[in-house]
Amino acid sequence: MALRDKLFQSTFSKLFVYNILWEDAEIDERFLQVDEDSAVLCISAAGCGAAGMLSGRPQRIDAVDINPHHLALAALKMTAAQRMESYSQFYDLFARGWSSDPERSVRRLADTLPRWMQRYWKRHHDRFEKSMLHQGLTAQMLAAFRRQVGVDASWLRSIMHNTPEERMQAVEDWVKPVLYKPHFKAVLNSPLQLVSLGINFQQRDRILQTEGMNIIDFFIEHLKRVAATDVETNWFVWYTVAGEFNHDHPDAVPPYLRKDRWERSFRSPTTTRFHNRNLFEVLGQAGPDTWSHYTLCDAPDWLDTETQRRLLDEILRTSRDGAIVQARSVEGTGMVENCGYERRFVPLQEPSEIATLEDRSRQYRRISFYRVEH
Ligand SMILES: C[S@@+](CC[C@H](N)C(=O)[O-])C[C@H]1O[C@@H](n2cnc3c(N)ncnc32)[C@H](O)[C@@H]1O
Repeated sequence: MALRDKLFQSTFSKLFVYNILWEDAEIDERFLQVDEDSAVLCISAAGCGAAGMLSGRPQRIDAVDINPHHLALAALKMTAAQRMESYSQFYDLFARGWSSDPERSVRRLADTLPRWMQRYWKRHHDRFEKSMLHQGLTAQMLAAFRRQVGVDASWLRSIMHNTPEERMQAVEDWVKPVLYKPHFKAVLNSPLQLVSLGINFQQRDRILQTEGMNIIDFFIEHLKRVAATDVETNWFVWYTVAGEFNHDHPDAVPPYLRKDRWERSFRSPTTTRFHNRNLFEVLGQAGPDTWSHYTLCDAPDWLDTETQRRLLDEILRTSRDGAIVQARSVEGTGMVENCGYERRFVPLQEPSEIATLEDRSRQYRRISFYRVEH
């Protein structure tokens, strides 16, 4: 890994960056098919995907993240999905980011988590006083963006039912002029902004090479792609433009927050483990035949090809036959194809194509599913 990306990883791992997962967990759920026989190894990020997997009631979920803030939040979401008896309080806590008594409710949840997480939530339960959804670097950058552009929930409601073409035009009319202002250009090009987007330097270079445009035009094109989706239910749009989810629609939140998923997750017998370590360390300590599912976010994009090969070798060594591996990439091809490992990691073409087309975060050029064959 290049020095600047080592520095990026070290900075990123210390900051509270995201409070939601920027990946369409509804798509993942459809193709991962986690069930009672499954054992999952996942990079947690902010945990919306990991919490959603509990509705499949798998045997075991190992959530890994080098970032303690993300892992602690993921653990809180997961334990809440398994243990909170009141759906409305569960919804308030994570879909509104709020609790009437955060100290008590967060402490009760954290009680079952590892000691360091108990200490963490003792210090940070106040995040739920106003809204946890407004906390963290990305949320703060987006709040500044909304103030500059002058958009909010009522603006979003006013354009929500326009045609996709009209909504894309709204991005041109409202957002483009602001992003091209010199100070905004400087912010968008800054390392801090890369951290808030979770894009390391290697990944940024891959984006610019793949897309053939500068970072501002890339960002505008990205917003236009997002504007073309079903805005009413796209929780990424609501979070970005309104700073909150659309509470008028039950499907406008990540799946783990929907009532039917909560009903299935509640009291699920799944054993959860939380590893605040590098993925490679967790893989390194596991034996053969351990996991049936690996969900890697876009972390492989942060790795060079040689390290991607090491990752695939470790998955091969620790996986059950037929295991499913999933990863996102800002490039048009996946890591397996880059490394020439297609014989052991069979690309699942149809799920990958559908997921790539339908993921409403619109951040990735490729979402890949593979089946491991030993
Ligand atoms: C790759 S980032 C990018 C953003 C991601 N798409 C999302 O929606 O959150 C996701 C998470 O992966 C974690 N991560 C990256 N590389 C890792 C590694 N080698 N081991 C463990 N966690 C890692 C980061 O700390 C972060 O929380």
